[in-house]
Amino acid sequence: SVILLLALLLGYLLGSIPFGLILTRAAGMGDIRTIGSGNIGATNVLRTGNKKVAAATLLLDALKGAVAVWVAPLLLDPSGLLAVGAAAAVGAVLGHCHPVWLGFRGGKGVATSLGVFLALSWPIFVITALAWLVVAKLSRISSAGALGGMAVGLVAAWALAPEAVAIAVTIITLYVYARHHSNIRRLLNGTEPRIGEGKTPAA
Ligand code: G3P
Repeated sequence: SVILLLALLLGYLLGSIPFGLILTRAAGMGDIRTIGSGNIGATNVLRTGNKKVAAATLLLDALKGAVAVWVAPLLLDPSGLLAVGAAAAVGAVLGHCHPVWLGFRGGKGVATSLGVFLALSWPIFVITALAWLVVAKLSRISSAGALGGMAVGLVAAWALAPEAVAIAVTIITLYVYARHHSNIRRLLNGTEPRIGEGKTPAA
């Protein structure tokens, strides 16, 4: 429907705000896309050594996703159809991964996914975030935490959440996995850098 398309578009516009790039530039840290993995996400901002800017990137990239899911039904469908928030959620992750402002070359969608999960279904957010933290802590690898956490979140969504939410979580999880293809290759080779290791690893 037109409302779902508008929700997708609204989510896309909010999701496409590249906070990692904006914050690192504002802090005079240069272009984050020339550092580490070249990604604009919090994991790569952390490789600059600036923990505060990395934490702010994580929070704001998550917040824009949550705001998209909260605002879309208010603007587009006051009756609060769950599918409107779900469409905005998918749009926000797509916007983060492919911002029109950066020639469609954006991030990998992990922080934004956590934000949209929080707004769609807080139990799914809690389960995903806990699994993410446990895997990241045990492996000391950020991408492994993200991929492990989202796999657990996907199962939880089908077990616990309404169908519209589970479908959105499935699309988002598949998308985030696709964005991590080079990380997955490095994880399989054993060459994926650990958190706090190699502030400027090869891209
Ligand atoms: O959220 C992105 C993270 O999972 C991987 O980032 O910079 O190590 O490719 P990066």
